[in-house]
Amino acid sequence: MPTRRDTLRLAGFAGLAQAASASAAPKAPSRLRTPVCTLLGIEHPVLQAPMQFIATPALVAAVCEAGGLGILPGIGLPPDQLRANIQEVRRLTRRPFGVNLILHSALRPPVDMSTFPSETTRAITSVLNRFRARLGLPERNEAPATLPDVLPALFEVIVRERAPVFSTGVGLPTADMVTRCHQSGMKVLSMVATVTDAVEAERLGADVIAAQGSEAGGHRSVGVKPPSPERAAIGGLALVPQVVRKVRVPVVAAGAMMDGRGLAAALALGAVGVLMGTRFIATLESGAPPFYKDALQNGDSDETTLSDAFTGHYARFLRNRFLDEYRSSGAPVFPAVAQQLAARDIVEAAAKNGDPSLYPMYAGQGVGAIDGIPAAGDVVRTSVAEAIGILEGLGALAVR
Ligand SMILES: Cc1cc2nc3c(=O)[nH]c(=O)nc-3n(C[C@H](O)[C@H](O)[C@H](O)COP(=O)(O)O)c2cc1C
Repeated sequence: MPTRRDTLRLAGFAGLAQAASASAAPKAPSRLRTPVCTLLGIEHPVLQAPMQFIATPALVAAVCEAGGLGILPGIGLPPDQLRANIQEVRRLTRRPFGVNLILHSALRPPVDMSTFPSETTRAITSVLNRFRARLGLPERNEAPATLPDVLPALFEVIVRERAPVFSTGVGLPTADMVTRCHQSGMKVLSMVATVTDAVEAERLGADVIAAQGSEAGGHRSVGVKPPSPERAAIGGLALVPQVVRKVRVPVVAAGAMMDGRGLAAALALGAVGVLMGTRFIATLESGAPPFYKDALQNGDSDETTLSDAFTGHYARFLRNRFLDEYRSSGAPVFPAVAQQLAARDIVEAAAKNGDPSLYPMYAGQGVGAIDGIPAAGDVVRTSVAEAIGILEGLGALAVR
């Protein structure tokens, strides 16, 4: 456990460290204990965001073992695989963890693709076929089939397994879902990107709200695709205190939370913890391919962009050739998730070739702060130690 001086040094608050060490007698190391720790049964107010393909059971368990809350992604998996992943987390840790579902309206029920206009399909596939030609893949000219209705079966697995926390993103849970979770002794964490959705999530019974600022990597956490990427895109500094004012349940801040500075800032805004995504992609246990982790280490905060080209719903990525060329083509996209299915062969080939130019590298604007590939547990511990140092240092600034 770092000492108080260590935490101040880690935080880079050199001047404050000197001031504090001159006045302070040695004390037992401090801890950060907030209402979300008590509510979720965790040691530190650090939550790891659910991330498809990236938040493996090993990553989730490492975060839990370090005292944070790891969250497994559920979407995109067959129910049996999700059950196996939950059981694997339980094999690796006895601590509480979460399981997430994305609840976008295009999945509830899945959009009927049989009536999708053929002219729009042609416009989309002609752009995707350009990427296929480069990768030596066969052309595809048809729209993807209507997706199977997977959400009810996945939710059933989560409830039957009694995952300690049900986490939702990109859409709100229904009141029935919340009731089922509560009847099974589970807590519900709902991620939102607007104040209106935060109020609604509380009304539906959510126990914790994650307020996702527009800096965040991954999809904008709204259940209906906004008319433009500028909508439902409120910076975290603006969003978090407004959400905190409007709801009574605990709020955690999401979006560009990379370290102890972010955690301390979130607490200052009235949140009781952080939900960190991008920082955990660049960790030893993450399932991201090596070229993605390298790109994050070299990425600058100005290199991310919001686009619907990979999945059909706006998400923040590191810019690359796929996103730039798709945008300049002016082509439309299929509905959410159908677009992801349409581009899947391209993404799989890019992953196989280790080609970052055609691969969806989700990342938040905090990406420029990534300077290594630590173990996930170290991210949790260092963030907490830094935040404690910063908070103590800031306390020293308040003079009578
Ligand atoms: C690679 C990646 C995948 C994500 N997948 C999901 C997901 O499956 N479900 C979800 O609710 N949120 C998902 N998100 C969004 C996160 O929950 C969270 O809002 C975001 O990562 C926070 O911002 P940050 O990346 O700047 O830390 C994902 C984010 C990333 C970066």
